[in-house]
Amino acid sequence: MSKRVVYFNGQFVAESEARISIFDSALMYGDMAFEMTRTYNQRPFRLREHLDRLYGSLRLLEIDCGLTIDRMEQVTLETLERNLATEPPDMDWQIMHDVSRGPLEVYRTAFREGIRATVSINCWPLITHMGGFAPNYSSGVHVVIPAQQTLPAHLVDPKAKTRSRLHYQMANLQAARLGAGRWPVLLDPDGYLSEGPGWNIFLVKDGELLTPEPRNILLGVSRATTMELARDLGIPIRETNLGRYDALRADEIFCTATTYAMVHATSFEGQTVGDGSPGPMFKRLIETWKLFAGVDFVSQARHYAERLTLWERTGTRE
Ligand SMILES: Cc1ncc(COP(=O)(O)O)c(C=O)c1O
Repeated sequence: MSKRVVYFNGQFVAESEARISIFDSALMYGDMAFEMTRTYNQRPFRLREHLDRLYGSLRLLEIDCGLTIDRMEQVTLETLERNLATEPPDMDWQIMHDVSRGPLEVYRTAFREGIRATVSINCWPLITHMGGFAPNYSSGVHVVIPAQQTLPAHLVDPKAKTRSRLHYQMANLQAARLGAGRWPVLLDPDGYLSEGPGWNIFLVKDGELLTPEPRNILLGVSRATTMELARDLGIPIRETNLGRYDALRADEIFCTATTYAMVHATSFEGQTVGDGSPGPMFKRLIETWKLFAGVDFVSQARHYAERLTLWERTGTRE
């Protein structure tokens, strides 16, 4: 049995006890904002940026979570603190915030305590996500364009990180049909590259770093970090419209997201990118990122991969 605890509506409860109602608006409408932060050396990485994005999503969804951002930061740190001792000191963590509007008003008689937002924060050891992900750092990923397009920003703004994710899931299913390790990058309504179901995309062409302009995408914290590190290294960056043709002619392609930071694309639409191995720009950036984070997260992921089977068998350390 897990000894992890979850922040749930103002209390710390056992992870297995944290339950969301079947009458919750999250279940009825996918009406929920969320965030995913990770730790490096057991300290949250850019937590404030993640919370800032969460509060932006909540504002768009018109949800009052009942906590100030400072208080949310405090309880996040406390949730993490309460879980750290359940794993060895070399374990890093994923921190997930989920906030919904709460149960629908029509079911209010089922809730004696009244209707209020559902707020949860859980911490999960990164061994499962990163242990499973580790081989991708060597093999790279195969980026493909699925039939599923992204939703136009004027209809559903992707800058809000919400659980209304059916279009991402459809893209995943379509990519999976093309083979293992296929990662879908969705086109926007104008036919430009937008993003993957959980990542942002970068191309490198003639020494310049290119990424879709911030219109039809989630503004990834890792995207911002990558751009910041690149600027510090004096690498020219351009946010611009990028099509299939640009990606096919790119010297390098890579994807960024919170858990793994960055991973290179071996192929795009079935054609090898560069010579298929991580390119010089990618290598420079990932090495800089490791220094910045203070953790060699690639070695860490490989180490987790070696321990994963045993960890899953025992569930958690007693
Ligand atoms: C749709 C989408 N785009 C991009 C990202 C990458 O964002 P971040 O770097 O903040 O993890 C995510 C993360 O989950 C995502 O869901």
